[in-house]
Amino acid sequence: MSRVISVYRRGHFNAAHRLYVKDWDFEKNEEVFGLCNNPYYHGHNYEIEVCLTGEIDPVTGMLINLDQLKKIIREEVEEYFDHKNLNEQVEEFKDLNPTVENICVISYERLRKKLDSKYQLRVRLYETARNSAEYGD
Ligand code: NI
Repeated sequence: MSRVISVYRRGHFNAAHRLYVKDWDFEKNEEVFGLCNNPYYHGHNYEIEVCLTGEIDPVTGMLINLDQLKKIIREEVEEYFDHKNLNEQVEEFKDLNPTVENICVISYERLRKKLDSKYQLRVRLYETARNSAEYGD
């Protein structure tokens, strides 16, 4: 009998960003992005929740070794983004606005490359306690 289950692991990082469209003038950016368009940047305490879904291994009783998942999240997301200026220091955001939506997608793509395709992966990223985005398979 196959048992499909979801396992969750949380992570955390702090990062700075500015939301704006390079081709727009300051007024237009101010109108659309408000305070997030601050040219001196601002920071957030991001929380990430990673959800893996698949079948429980009948021998180990586990979906995945959580230590292994913890290490992948640490290397691909936490250490990669933590204490960075996302616009200036993270390759993926050189030409991509670092919104909660886009950081969520990039986090998913970085994690997806390191995880076996037998797992379904979903990523939820909280920019504040009230604002989050979710992306995945
Ligand atoms: Ni912001």
